[in-house]
Amino acid sequence: MNAPDADRFPECPTSWYLYCRSRDLGRRPLSRNLLGRRLVAFRTASGKIAIIDGRCAHLGADLGAGCVHGEAIQCAFHHWEYGTDGRCVLVPAKPQAAARFQLSAYPVVERHGFVFVFNGPEALFPLPFFPDADPGEFIASEPFDEVLLCPWWMVGANVFDVQHFRAAHDRKLIDTPAVDCPSPYARRITANFTVLGDTLRDRLVRRFAGERVRMTFTDWCGNIIFATPTFRRTASYGMLITEPLGPNRVHVHGIVFVPRSRSRMGQTLFDPMHAKVRRYFIKAFLHSDARLGTKGLTYNPAGLFDCDGELIRYFDWLASLPSAACGVTPRKKACGLVDTNLLYPQSS
Ligand code: FES
Ligand SMILES: [Fe+2]
Repeated sequence: MNAPDADRFPECPTSWYLYCRSRDLGRRPLSRNLLGRRLVAFRTASGKIAIIDGRCAHLGADLGAGCVHGEAIQCAFHHWEYGTDGRCVLVPAKPQAAARFQLSAYPVVERHGFVFVFNGPEALFPLPFFPDADPGEFIASEPFDEVLLCPWWMVGANVFDVQHFRAAHDRKLIDTPAVDCPSPYARRITANFTVLGDTLRDRLVRRFAGERVRMTFTDWCGNIIFATPTFRRTASYGMLITEPLGPNRVHVHGIVFVPRSRSRMGQTLFDPMHAKVRRYFIKAFLHSDARLGTKGLTYNPAGLFDCDGELIRYFDWLASLPSAACGVTPRKKACGLVDTNLLYPQSS
């Protein structure tokens, strides 16, 4: 049983990415680098959000320096305008020339106060959520983030690395994990664990949630992971969404969800506090992974053998995904991934 060589993985998965928070997108456009491209997001007068290539087709000005004009974005340099589909709709100096120019437009979803973008002309699958859960019945916590020094595919692999739960998380595996693929783009692992550990956090977990936990992780394309640890008395919902920054750097965003209360009072008083508590526990659980990841991890297929079987099968599955299907992030083509500013520099 051999794990695939590193060159079998694309530079970035064809998938959904976190572009910004909704509140970051006010009346002004917002441009940023994502996967080596300059993109710009804007909200039109009617409220629609669009994300298109961020460089003007005229002289390459950054459209993020422009402004929204009705249902279009206007470049600040010579006032060319582009619609939400990326088509140029106005060239003031020569109106009949507008039809000759078009920028790429990308699928966008706004959900839970975040703006997500798909890195292809058409989404290969809808923006996923927790299995069998309705996004409208959940609220999101404040996100947290970290930049890890490893290839992007090492992040999703973490949950298929069955051995590390005992060593890094004080969770003892008590049965054989079940693995399936609920979608051609998703791989899921479910396993039961006993909560070990003497930290205050683990003692609180055993006392208030229970000492057995059923963990389900659903991985979409290697860059979106939904974790649902289910205890006898409660369940948590954590999402990681990653963005490759280069061959050995990956930006990981974490968002924790809690079910929305039915009453208005519950939504106002209880839900935000509930989300903070869950966020604390999930972030603390991930601390050992983050601590190792920030100091650097390498992908070494020669170091994997039989006892890493689930991990090897995950890498095989991931390397076989049709990542180049949309033609935007071709395998092994240097797409010049560019570093971005941290979205949440204030988070600890
Ligand atoms: S560079 Fe954008 S209109 Fe000229
Ligand atoms: Fe882990």
